[in-house]
Amino acid sequence: MNKLLLKGGTLVSARGTKRADVLISGEKIVAVGKRFSTDARELNVSGKLIFPGFIDAHTHFDLAVSGTVTADDFDHGTKSAVAGGVTTVVDFATQYQGETLTEALNNWHMKAFANSSCDYAFHMAISDWNEAIENELPAMFEQGVTSFKVYMIYDAMALSDRAIFELMTALKPYGGIVGCHCENAGIIGKLQENAIARGETSHVYHARTRPDYTEAEAVKRFLSIARAADAPCIVVHLSTKAGLEEILRAREDGVAVYAETCPQYLLLDDSAYHAPFDVGARFICSPPLRKAKDNKALWNALKNGQLDTVSTDHCAFTSEQKRMGERDFTKIPNGMPGVETRAALMYTYGVKLHRLTLPQMCAYLSENPARLYGMYPKKGVIKTGSDADLVIFDPKGSDTITASRCHSRSGYTPFEGMQTIGGVKKVFLRGKLVYSDGEIVLEHSGHFVTRKKYSL
Ligand code: URP
Ligand code: ZN
Ligand code: ZN
Repeated sequence: MNKLLLKGGTLVSARGTKRADVLISGEKIVAVGKRFSTDARELNVSGKLIFPGFIDAHTHFDLAVSGTVTADDFDHGTKSAVAGGVTTVVDFATQYQGETLTEALNNWHMKAFANSSCDYAFHMAISDWNEAIENELPAMFEQGVTSFKVYMIYDAMALSDRAIFELMTALKPYGGIVGCHCENAGIIGKLQENAIARGETSHVYHARTRPDYTEAEAVKRFLSIARAADAPCIVVHLSTKAGLEEILRAREDGVAVYAETCPQYLLLDDSAYHAPFDVGARFICSPPLRKAKDNKALWNALKNGQLDTVSTDHCAFTSEQKRMGERDFTKIPNGMPGVETRAALMYTYGVKLHRLTLPQMCAYLSENPARLYGMYPKKGVIKTGSDADLVIFDPKGSDTITASRCHSRSGYTPFEGMQTIGGVKKVFLRGKLVYSDGEIVLEHSGHFVTRKKYSL
């Protein structure tokens, strides 16, 4: 068996940091400690941090949406992931209306199989709900899909409150969990219609027609549904202080709610929409970018442990695709790339600015998503018996984020020009070096990860 000793690094876990060596044999970590006597090949990683491979539990690769298909398929998306230290993505297998869950799952397997440079798992996004779909739920669990996504908005995807309630109730015997895109479709739809009727068609109206209370109302409603079902739940891509306050209130009332935010809701704000269309449209995502007060509230919530994961909602489109909405902002494909830049951003603007500790960064990017999505301790921790998914992170040095060095086919990054400190140097995926000093050195070696029920 191929053995490798990572020597002299500082291991990061959700509980702290420690100097220790890591012995890898084949795909697994076989020992963690010091002074091994081993015939393994050695790699000196002194001065470096070693994180458990990062997990991005919110990506949309090869998704047909808004009359187009996302720019990043599994090939490009997972190369972008690996370059950002991500060794596992949890993508949204999406049931298009009229499809069965089995069709949707098979469809996503075909997209990902032999094209993924990191490991991958799937949530199942449900956009049709009826008895036949309910009867398919056990088959999803048998195939390692244990988390489900619902949308309260987007005509092609949205489920009614009743359907969400029924889904949550139906998942309880299996230990499944539902994540929700929380926005009030009725208010937003009417505000958009009014704006277009007034001739307010430019991209700046995207955020103006999605005020913060439309997220907060939907969060509150989703949490009421979870309360009625007595089921755990996840608010995905939380963007507002008002939404956060609903989550904190519901927790006090005993609702088991987990929450995710994304770097764009921590680091960017709606002033980005003041730019002319070609630049401003790059920042169109839903929920939209918010205000500085929302950024601040979300950073504080991370510091206080009130959120659970930081994912990216990587949903990339090119400038040409964004131009579909040049004359009508409601037709701009929603989403932005992010899987490649998350770790450097969270280290620079989180850890280095003392908004987060290093163990918290590890919790939000590795351990919590592994636990929440049933992959722990195979993933998310540096421990004997775990997959040898490891990120060698150089805490020194500085860089500037630029799309020209990113792997997304969108051709841009919303974080262009932002300075970073430290960065991902090498990435091991199940013991194999897949990324080294700016280069993908091994492609398409990702495997599907079957998941157990959530356990955060
Ligand atoms: O704008 C976004 N976030 N697009 C991706 C789909 C979603 O809503 O998560
Ligand atoms: Zn969403
Ligand atoms: Zn999303």
